[in-house]
Amino acid sequence: MAIAFITGATDGIGREVAKRLAFHGYDVIIHGRNELKLEKVADEIRDLTGKSVFKIKADFSSLKDLKKLVKEIKDNFSKVDLLLNNAATFEKERKVTEEGFERTFMVNYLAPFYLTISLINEGVDIKYVLNVSSMAHASSIEFEDLQLEKGYDGYKAYSLSKLYITLFTYYLAEMLKGKIYVNCLHPGVINTKLLMENWGAIGASIEEGAKNVIDAIKYIEAHNVTGVYFDNGKPSKSKPITYDREVQRKLWEKTLKLLKINERDLKF
Ligand SMILES: NC(=O)c1ccc[n+]([C@@H]2O[C@H](COP(=O)([O-])OP(=O)(O)OC[C@H]3O[C@@H](n4cnc5c(N)ncnc54)[C@H](OP(=O)(O)O)[C@@H]3O)[C@@H](O)[C@H]2O)c1
Repeated sequence: MAIAFITGATDGIGREVAKRLAFHGYDVIIHGRNELKLEKVADEIRDLTGKSVFKIKADFSSLKDLKKLVKEIKDNFSKVDLLLNNAATFEKERKVTEEGFERTFMVNYLAPFYLTISLINEGVDIKYVLNVSSMAHASSIEFEDLQLEKGYDGYKAYSLSKLYITLFTYYLAEMLKGKIYVNCLHPGVINTKLLMENWGAIGASIEEGAKNVIDAIKYIEAHNVTGVYFDNGKPSKSKPITYDREVQRKLWEKTLKLLKINERDLKF
């Protein structure tokens, strides 16, 4: 049975995608940071499919929590066919996590980066990695101020985090060519709590957003593409800077350094 691991499955697009994947035959692992919300989604999936669901709680603003999460997956699963890095936040004010990272940077970028490379490095057999980016990804990068210590603005931090995850997607895709298919997507402008709290109800339905994600998954599975950006379910192009190999490499190196990971310790 194919297994899908969906982060941020307790609300919005992730929750609807988890239900649809379970309905279409996947065994699903759902992640969230709130036990009650996790329980509720697990119940919904059980009612819909009759299947039990594996739940994992972790706050993505904590590397400590992420380390526990990686161990929990490794101890319980030898493979994850599809890893959907969907969880994300929007922070109006600049906040710094206990481990010293700007919160948007940590939750939206460092967490999926760490989770993905750790699971692969621990030998969990992953076939597809799909990162949720956004059409709002930034078009330029300042390596000296990745975490916006100067002139913080919530939108800028969010849009930078989506640029970073897009650059990471393409770099990893190239590195894992022939082994793991790594892609990213913009799910559409969708009326979820993230959108409504920050922009208002200017988008399409959550069902539409979930359909766009499922369409991208179907395309990826059918064509085994890697390093592709999907927009509203279809292959598309991200901003020019995301294809710059030098920028991808530099961000990769800086990120490993921040996470205190030595590239020589990576087994892939
Ligand atoms: N909605 C849009 O128009 C739009 C457009 C482009 C891209 N996206 C992207 O789509 C993805 C899904 O977002 P959404 O719109 O569905 O938002 P959402 O409804 O707010 O869902 C976000 C999910 O991430 C989880 N999450 C947030 N902070 C977390 C943390 N610190 N630790 C662990 N989990 C955390 C949330 O948990 P809780 O349930 O506990 O809050 C929830 O499950 C995100 O990557 C977002 O950036 C959305």
